[in-house]
Amino acid sequence: MKVEVNGIELNYDDQGEGVPLILLHGFPFDRNLWYDQVQALKDHCRIITPDLRGFGESGAPEEPVSMSQYAADVVALMDLLKIDQAIIGGLSMGGYVSLAIAEQYPERLLGLILSNTKAAKDTAAQRQNRYNTSEKTNYDGTEFLVKDLLEKVLCEETLAEKQDVVEYTQQMMRRQPGSAVRGALAGMAERKDREFILSEIEVPVLVIAGMKDTLIPVFDSKMMVREMPHAHLEIIDESGHLSNLEQPDLYNKILLRFVLPFGS
Ligand code: MLT
Repeated sequence: MKVEVNGIELNYDDQGEGVPLILLHGFPFDRNLWYDQVQALKDHCRIITPDLRGFGESGAPEEPVSMSQYAADVVALMDLLKIDQAIIGGLSMGGYVSLAIAEQYPERLLGLILSNTKAAKDTAAQRQNRYNTSEKTNYDGTEFLVKDLLEKVLCEETLAEKQDVVEYTQQMMRRQPGSAVRGALAGMAERKDREFILSEIEVPVLVIAGMKDTLIPVFDSKMMVREMPHAHLEIIDESGHLSNLEQPDLYNKILLRFVLPFGS
C-alpha cells in the first residue's frame, strides 16, 4: 500500500488486527526483511512493515536521509493510519530509527524492540568508511557493497548451510537503489549519539542480539540493557547480524512473548 507522507510516496504492508506492531528494516534492505515475522505474527497483532524512504517501493529525492527523517515518516504514517501508539522496533538501522522515535516522539510508544542495534554514534573511522563507500557507489554501482556485506550480515553457518537465506538476503540488497543506499549511508554517518536517552525510556524494551553478530556485537546490546530501566535481553546463539532471517522460529517466539501481553 502507498501513502503520501512528508513529500514522498511511502510503501508499507499492514496485516492482522489488534495491538499495532511496526517493524523497521535495516540497511540496505526493505520491508521484505520481515516476511517470516509477518507470517508468524499477523494472527496475533496488527503488523505494519514500511519501506523506509528510498528503499523497496518507497520514493525519495536523492539526498542524505537523517534517522530523524525516517522517524518522522514513520510517525506521519501512524498519523495517517490513526494509530496513536504502537510497539515500534527495528533491526540495526531500523533500531537507530526506533531510538530516534523514542527520543523525539516518546508518547507514540507502547513498547520498543531494539534488534541487532546500538545507541552509540559512529566513530570517525566508521563515518569516513561510509563516505568512501557512498562515493564508490557513484561510479561502481552497489554490487561491491552487496558482496562485502553478505559475509558480514550472515554468520558462517548460515552462509554454509542456508542457501535460501543467502539468496534471499542477496536479492533484497541488490534491489535497493543507489540513491537510497547513499542517502542512508550519509544519514547513519551523521546520526547522533542516543545513549543518553536510554535511561529515560519508560516503556518495556526488548533487546535482541545475535551471538555471532560481528557488525554489532552482543557487548553493545548488554551496554544498552544496563542503561534502560525496563529492558530485557535475548541472545540468539546460532545467529549473525540478521537474527530474524537466520533463526526465524526462535526470533518469532521471542517477539510473540514480548508482544502478546500488550493485547491482553
Ligand atoms: C544495518 O544492518 O542496518 C547496518 O549494518 C547498520 C550499520 O551499517 O550501522
